[in-house]
Amino acid sequence: MNLKKEDYPVTVLYDFDLGEFSPKERSVARKVSDLSPMFHDKAATEALIKQGDPLVYEIFYYGFKTSLSDMALGTTRIQPGKVGDEYYMTKGHFHAAENQPEIYFCVKGQGNLLMQTIEGEFLAERWKVGTISHIPPMWAHRVVNTGNEPLVFVASYHLSAGHNYGPIEEKGFRKLLVERNGKPEFVLNEQWK
Ligand SMILES: [Fe+2]
Repeated sequence: MNLKKEDYPVTVLYDFDLGEFSPKERSVARKVSDLSPMFHDKAATEALIKQGDPLVYEIFYYGFKTSLSDMALGTTRIQPGKVGDEYYMTKGHFHAAENQPEIYFCVKGQGNLLMQTIEGEFLAERWKVGTISHIPPMWAHRVVNTGNEPLVFVASYHLSAGHNYGPIEEKGFRKLLVERNGKPEFVLNEQWK
């Protein structure tokens, strides 16, 4: 076996409190403006962007690519907050590779995992610290922070899974998670047809 540099074992440290890997590899930050097609209240979205365009979530990735494999870990930290009555959330995506699943592990905070097939079958899982969800291939996935502190989760996937944001940008998930009388509640998404 002719080992290359990337074929050797790698160990990283994960900070459960911060929700970051050490050493950090790559990161992405998404603000309200990056999610403007996703939030249903367009006036509230515009107003927040004008008021400084707050941070909604950050993702830190760690890829463990070798000559023969492409496992990766990602961790996402969603801030607490709302756009109008809709809680802060991730954009949500399908995988570009249709045979690729993913595992999500909630390590801080509380919220919901929303999942949906392209035909519109919708499922939501309530999340608390310790919840682990398996997202099978062909299910879009989005995480919503309904708590008062950051929601942090770890994702395990293959780099070859890729992202397909199109269908979610276009019409979103079948249901929105909004605050009603101080509590999270699902309502039908008018944009979804
Ligand atoms: Fe994914």
